Amino acid sequence: MYDVAVIPGDGIGNEVVEAVEPLLVDVADAYGVDVGTTWFDWGSQRYLDEGALMPDDGLDRLEGFDAILLGAVGHPEVPDHVTLRGLRLPITKGFQQHVCKRPAYLFEGVESPLRGYEGGDIDFVVYRQNTEGEYADVGGREHQGFDNELAVQASVFTREGTEKLLRPAFEAATERSGHLTNVTKSNAQAHGMVFWDDMVAEVSEEYPDVEVERLLVDAASMDMVRRPDEFDVLVASNLFGDILTDIGGGIMGSLGLAPSTNIDPDGTYPSMFEPVHGSAFDIMGEGVANPLATVLSGSLMFEHLGEDAAAEALWDGVAAQLADAGAPRTADIGGAAATVAVTDDLRDRLV
Ligand code: NAI
Ligand code: MG
Repeated sequence: MYDVAVIPGDGIGNEVVEAVEPLLVDVADAYGVDVGTTWFDWGSQRYLDEGALMPDDGLDRLEGFDAILLGAVGHPEVPDHVTLRGLRLPITKGFQQHVCKRPAYLFEGVESPLRGYEGGDIDFVVYRQNTEGEYADVGGREHQGFDNELAVQASVFTREGTEKLLRPAFEAATERSGHLTNVTKSNAQAHGMVFWDDMVAEVSEEYPDVEVERLLVDAASMDMVRRPDEFDVLVASNLFGDILTDIGGGIMGSLGLAPSTNIDPDGTYPSMFEPVHGSAFDIMGEGVANPLATVLSGSLMFEHLGEDAAAEALWDGVAAQLADAGAPRTADIGGAAATVAVTDDLRDRLV
């Protein structure tokens, strides 16, 4: 029996998690995997009512779970830095979730905004450092409102945090095509990013079969549009990985298809699974959000838990549904179906 903490959060996070959670539980059950879920109503409404997105002992309450399923946080009436720093970042940092693994895959039946790519042509995975870098909460503001006002936002790179991201990425590259792209900006960031490059070079010595390509992040962004089929495994800092994986979502046809993981590579703490997308103010409350990024995140959760049959069933079920021109699909990928129509159809296919 796996105990999964479910935090739907805000906006479409609620809509997709409410639709997907029962599907994950039922598909797991069909493959002999027993899953129990506990829901937490943490998020921006709690902040507006009680002054905090989660309780002071939030991490203690989550620590005993086997995994966490998150929707998204973000509310039109709460500043974005408050929501992100009030829930997602304390969990990823507190639970040592150094590895944010984000696959980008163009499914058959989905149209990429890029010309000439068929199903399977785009197939890469970004390993994003998830606990430090540009998202380290180090800095400050001084002299607010005066002419000499200043702000400092420091990037932090540690040997531990970098290595813990790089090893799983090199392992993945070994299992995949043996090609890894190091996305960096060491020309302009001569301290943190040169250290990053040094760490990539050091860890690469343990993986002589992996060929390492180095790209500056600006060129990598352009190449992700120009030649996405040539990427396989990428490593990137927290900010660069964040940005590149939205490009990944875009070129795979929709952010509504892009899954994400936040993994503690040591397994000391629960890992967290969530779609790449946020709470999507522009469509929230309409019941039209694409639930498939969350289904695929559930698949990655079962893969992480070692339940490969359930993981594959979910992934393959999504692929089969997308390849079926008659199946319901949401507006972001050219359909007009509601969120629940998509998960109901998946249930019919899988359970
Ligand atoms: P967003 O990812 O919520 O939306 C970007 C665009 O993609 C919107 O046009 C939206 O309608 C579309 N989209 C996203 N997911 C979709 C889905 N499942 N189906 C159909 N269309 C989808 O990013 P945005 O608008 O920049 O941020 C909104 C809020 O979400 C902000 O408060 C932001 O801070 C927060 N956010 C939270 C994240 C998290 O909790 N991990 C990640 C990204 C943003
Ligand atoms: Mg993002």
